Amino acid sequence: MRKIAFLRSVGIQRADPYIQQAVRGLAADGIEAGLFHTGGAAGDDDFPGYRERLDRTVTPRELAEAVAAWGADAAVSISLPCENALRDAAAKAFLDAEGIPTVMTPLAATMLLVDKWETKRLCEQAGLKVPDGFRTDSDLLAGRGLPVPGYRDALRVRAERIGYPLMSKPVWDSTSMGIRTLHGAADLDAYLASPPEVSAVVEQVVEGDLCSVDIVGRPGSYRVLPLCWTGRAGAEPVFTFADLRWCGPREEADAAFAEVARTLVTLCGDLGVCGSVNVDMVYTRGQFVILEINPRIGGATTLSCAASGTNTFTSLARMARGLPFTGGMAQRAGWAVEFLAEDRIPAAVVAELRQRVAVVTTHDLVIDGASRGDIVAFTLAEGDEDRTVKALTELHETTGFPTADVMGKIGSLLCP
Ligand SMILES: Nc1ncnc2c1ncn2[C@@H]1O[C@H](COP(=O)(O)OP(=O)(O)O)[C@@H](O)[C@H]1O
Ligand SMILES: [Mg+2]
Repeated sequence: MRKIAFLRSVGIQRADPYIQQAVRGLAADGIEAGLFHTGGAAGDDDFPGYRERLDRTVTPRELAEAVAAWGADAAVSISLPCENALRDAAAKAFLDAEGIPTVMTPLAATMLLVDKWETKRLCEQAGLKVPDGFRTDSDLLAGRGLPVPGYRDALRVRAERIGYPLMSKPVWDSTSMGIRTLHGAADLDAYLASPPEVSAVVEQVVEGDLCSVDIVGRPGSYRVLPLCWTGRAGAEPVFTFADLRWCGPREEADAAFAEVARTLVTLCGDLGVCGSVNVDMVYTRGQFVILEINPRIGGATTLSCAASGTNTFTSLARMARGLPFTGGMAQRAGWAVEFLAEDRIPAAVVAELRQRVAVVTTHDLVIDGASRGDIVAFTLAEGDEDRTVKALTELHETTGFPTADVMGKIGSLLCP
């Protein structure tokens, strides 16, 4: 094994610092890493290996050809969101056929998991709790193909049976794009009068705590990373990074999650998941309700790596190398906390921050090509809560960073 290719769609900075550690680890073992990416710029600091920027419109076959031309012995998909996971799953089909084994969930399973309706059905069949819901078909609503005169009323009946509020989510799409809340029958009428262009899942609104878990592995051994808490779920969709995101002790939920984790692992095995999945859930009244399973690394991957002291990119590389991979529940190493600073943080303030807390990363968060501000992730040991809040409060008092709002949230999380 001499060369491993990483397939990536979005900027690699969001994988900081774990991707660099993984690449350096490979280099230390005499393996060259190559980045084949279609989004953002990448320098030596971002990916200290071979780099090839491909056009955003690259086809799966062209992507596979570029990887093969470089002479890769194996490949790993670290693309997101789902449309790019699908691209990589198709590229995997070509790469596998070329004798370049690729760590990515096979195409057939990926096609199920990128679709929220299919995923809901899979979860239900596996015995997991999901919000009750139905699928709306964009062709039928748009009058394409067979006219189905009763279709709108059929949907009204389904909605009435489930009850409001309901939420409509495109079966594809990510980061809360295209979500519409329907508070009552009038909203549904308006929705049916100007339906979304795409097919959607319409489902019960579940109120509770949003959380996310990454499962990494291949059939036979899956590692379940610690639960990450990402905000509140309710009738209005919230921007994924609006709240503090954190991983830390939460005994009751952790205990309730053990059984859900086992079921998810069985489902992953049945689907032949290879690489990472990222599961979004709501924790409500002691139960976990599954919102979606993304067949790829997730938006909380940095957090779960930080909290578990494991490196998902290293895990994926180990799989690519055919090395043994230990499954099971990854132990949480301490706290990991992530927040978004709406403005870029001055370098001097970052330096100050690094003096005070164990910073995992600070980098520009780019979504759909637009900067959303600087994302900051830090860790602390359990027992270090008071000291950490004090250190950050001092920083806030002298620099205004983190903002009073963020400080309030960090304070109530760590020192309730
Ligand atoms: N059934 C639901 N009840 C309450 N909130 C929901 C529900 N489904 C989705 N949401 C909210 O919308 C966000 C995005 O939904 P999700 O299913 O994860 O799709 P995606 O992340 O692909 O946009 C969730 O993080 C949550 O805030
Ligand atoms: Mg989601």
